Amino acid sequence: MHCFTYKKSELYAENVPVRKIADTVGTPVYIYSEKTLLMHLTSYQQAFDGYPSTICYALKANSNPAVLRLLAKNGCGADVVSGGELYLAKKAGIPSEKIVYAGVGKTEDEIAAALKARILMFNVESSDELKAIDRVAGKLNVKAPIALRVNPDIDPKTHPYISTGLKNSKFGIPIENALEYYRLAKKLRNVEVLGIHKHIGSQITSINPFVDALKRVILLARNLREQGIEIKNLDIGGGLGITYRDEAPPLPGDLSGAVMPLLEEGGFNLIVEPGRSIAGNAGICVTRVLYLKRNPEREFVIVDAGMNDLLRPSLYEAFHDIRPVLKNNRKKVLSDIVGPICESGDFIARERMINRAVQGDLLAVMSAGAYGFTMSSNYNSRPRAAEVLVRGSDFFVVKERESYKDLIRGTKLPAHLK
Ligand code: LLP
Repeated sequence: MHCFTYKKSELYAENVPVRKIADTVGTPVYIYSEKTLLMHLTSYQQAFDGYPSTICYALKANSNPAVLRLLAKNGCGADVVSGGELYLAKKAGIPSEKIVYAGVGKTEDEIAAALKARILMFNVESSDELKAIDRVAGKLNVKAPIALRVNPDIDPKTHPYISTGLKNSKFGIPIENALEYYRLAKKLRNVEVLGIHKHIGSQITSINPFVDALKRVILLARNLREQGIEIKNLDIGGGLGITYRDEAPPLPGDLSGAVMPLLEEGGFNLIVEPGRSIAGNAGICVTRVLYLKRNPEREFVIVDAGMNDLLRPSLYEAFHDIRPVLKNNRKKVLSDIVGPICESGDFIARERMINRAVQGDLLAVMSAGAYGFTMSSNYNSRPRAAEVLVRGSDFFVVKERESYKDLIRGTKLPAHLK
């Protein structure tokens, strides 16, 4: 579901012609649709309505402050994984009691900041971290609310780089050792055990892995209760996939439909941490064709967005649909759409049948709203792209394109090099 559609032969973001944004703001540019973002958030809120629950949007998918503010204003919480994300979540006005904090490498400073902010809970990933949280909470004279992130050893059947719930993963603690960890947590004076957390992976396109993992987690919650350890918050993580090509992933309603029956005896506060399924199809990356190049084997379409702007194709061989901003009737040719970066792995799409491109064409890289801008970099000293938010017939630059000056911000020349 999204609001990037053709009117006649021209691609629109809601009611704004994409070409107009590209001509005004330049390319590459990320364009987000407010309506699509809200549609996705609402579908989660409605799916879990009637059950005590908090939707904690995973900031790592897209942490543009305007996007966060929009979600915050509409009742969304946050899943953060760093002090930086905590800062952004707070700045956007997300209430602390709706913020959970995961990640295997929280520093003591980050832990202290989260304790001072009085977040809902830490999703703890190791016993060392548990002890660090206890230590920092002791110094601040507060009790740290925690859940342990358990690893249910379920194969989410997704790309290995984004599956996190298998035994060989660095995330969480093995579910079979969970009791020991909870006993340790119980003994720590400055820690309050509140919940269980699991997140098995991302871009998951069937419901079964969620159900299998949750069953294991509920069994654990039951065992813990028998041992006198009460579990209030059940955090089932994120991971629902989106349609990049022809996938038909479950929707939030399918997830709640499968999950709710398992929770009947629970009395839990449920936490869900969607990222991609909120932001992914709410954004596109628009790029302009710079040059065409033909060699005996291939037709190369060289565009002004590179792997520094959108890393997913290079890193995961991820598929993003490529659409012309202005439809045309040119012949279809097998093309590689590549960026300007000096790496063979710098491509946006390979071996695609697209209408023959010509210099100056605008192409839309679809489904780029999640893990697009947030994974971008300055590699090859390229200023990062601009970001635009569309609302109906209006559009707003919500992050300016970086300048060359931004490339040297914070750098210093030692005296002998001046
Ligand atoms: N909760 C935790 C603890 C996570 O680690 C993640 C994502 C999420 C929630 C949100 O998952 P989602 O609903 O977005 O699937 N860069 C990769 C995706 C990495 C996901 C990392 N963790 C990509 O571009 O596909």
